[in-house]
Amino acid sequence: MKILMLGDVSRTSACIYLKERLGRFIRENGVEFTIVNGENSAENNGINRASAEMLFDAGADVITTGNHAFKSYDAKSLFEDNENILRPANYPGNVPGDGVLLTDIGGMTALIINLLGVIMMEPLENPFYTAQKILKRYEGKYDISILDFHAEATSEKQALAHFLDGKITVFYGTHTHVATADECILPKGTAYITDIGMCGPDFSVLGIKPECIIEKMTMNWPVKFIPSENKITAHGILVEIDRKTKKTNKIQRISF
Ligand SMILES: [Fe+2]
Repeated sequence: MKILMLGDVSRTSACIYLKERLGRFIRENGVEFTIVNGENSAENNGINRASAEMLFDAGADVITTGNHAFKSYDAKSLFEDNENILRPANYPGNVPGDGVLLTDIGGMTALIINLLGVIMMEPLENPFYTAQKILKRYEGKYDISILDFHAEATSEKQALAHFLDGKITVFYGTHTHVATADECILPKGTAYITDIGMCGPDFSVLGIKPECIIEKMTMNWPVKFIPSENKITAHGILVEIDRKTKKTNKIQRISF
């Protein structure tokens, strides 16, 4: 069973690109389920109704988010209205939406979790404890589990992955927009990669025109971030899960 995960979709141009190209990738690779991180999919960053609709139309089954989850004004009702759009589970309990979803993937029950890192990020609940609590709450209710850990620090991603090794089927990182080359199966069986990269423009700085970021970093004054108009590439991972063992046979970085 093949599941595709795509990294942070950067703005409208990347949504349009996925609408044009994702369907073909899914068909040609026999993908059964697709999870896309949509927290930067709106034109002004964050996620809104229009960008979420484009990602679902493109072929996403579930959309995860991160630190920009609530940047758009309509995000609150968006999370309330659609259980297939997740916000990080370690937000306070009274925040709209949910960070956990139980869903069917090819006849198996999958527990999908979205968590936010706390190092150089929002001061949310400790993701280690949140993950522990979620796994305990859903114990015995799922066949496989998938975690999008949206975090800045590679150390936090690696540490949480080892903490959860053998307890999560696929653990992947998002947020940095830069794919790492460390995809592997950890000693106790969890498929892992520190970051799956971005769906966004080539030769940009996290999707933004380099000159904007250079000005900000050299002048130290506020700069308007203008999205790059360069050619888009979608980055992510394709994982193959064995239906009998319920473990990942293969984790592979992909781009198209
Ligand atoms: Fe992010």
